Amino acid sequence: MLLDFDDDGPGPVVILLHGFPLNRSMWKAQMAKIGSLYRVIAPDLRGHGHTAAPDGVYSIDAMADDVLDLLNALQLKEPVVIGGLSMGGYIALSLVARHPERVRALILMDTRAGADSTEAALGREEMAKQVETTRSTASVVQAMLPKLFSETTRNFHSDRIVPVRHMMEKTPARAVAGALRGMAARPDRTGDLARIQVPTLVLVGADDTITPPAEARAMAQAIPGAQFEIIPNAGHLAPLENPAASNAAILRFLSSLP
Ligand code: MLT
Repeated sequence: MLLDFDDDGPGPVVILLHGFPLNRSMWKAQMAKIGSLYRVIAPDLRGHGHTAAPDGVYSIDAMADDVLDLLNALQLKEPVVIGGLSMGGYIALSLVARHPERVRALILMDTRAGADSTEAALGREEMAKQVETTRSTASVVQAMLPKLFSETTRNFHSDRIVPVRHMMEKTPARAVAGALRGMAARPDRTGDLARIQVPTLVLVGADDTITPPAEARAMAQAIPGAQFEIIPNAGHLAPLENPAASNAAILRFLSSLP
C-alpha cells in the first residue's frame, strides 16, 4: 500500500520507521540533524499519520512490504540503512530477515526480537476489541502514555510529551486495532539475529521499561559485531526524549559504515 513520507537531505539513504501508534513526526529532531548529512526518508506506516488506514490485521511482514514498495517506488534499488523504533524495529527485523539484499545497515531502537508472550498477545486482543467497541483510542493512550517516558522527560521536558499524545490521539481506532493484532501475531525473530550480516546499532533508553536495556543488550550480543548504546535520561522513545545523545550515537554509527 502507498505510504505517505518525508524525504529530505543529501547523501546516503537512511529510512526511519516509527513506533506504535505514532507517526513520522516523531523523527523531527532526526530529520533536522541527521538530515543535514544523509537523505532521511521517514514514512507514515499503514494506518498512521497521513497514510490510509485499511481494515484488518496489520501484520509486521505486510508493513515491511509497504516499506519495500516505497523503496521500489523511489527507485532505491541499492541497499539502504533501515532504522526502526519498537514496532518500527519489528518491521526492520522482518525486512532484514526476508530481504537482506535491500539492507545496508540496521539501527534497532527501543525494540526487541522476541514475539509476544501468550499473555501479552491476549492483552493486545482485549485492547483491540475495546478500541473497536468504543471507536476510541483513549484507552490505549491512557495505558501507554505513562509508560513511555523517563522520569527526566516527565519532569523537565513535558514539551516532548504533548506531541506524542497528539500523535497517539490522531491514529484511527481501526489502525490501532490492526497494528495491535499484527504485533500480537508477529513471529519470534531471535533465531534470525545470528544471521544478520550487516552493521547494526542497537540503541535503547536507559529508563526504557517496555523494551529494557538488558533485553536490548542481549539482542545486540546475538547480532554479529553489533554496536550497543544506552541513551541516558530516556525511556522507550529515546530519539525523541534525548535527541542530542541519540543523534550523536546514530551519526557515529553512520559515519563508521564502509
Ligand atoms: C511501540 O512503541 O511501537 C510499541 O511499544 C510496540 C509494542 O507495543 O510492542
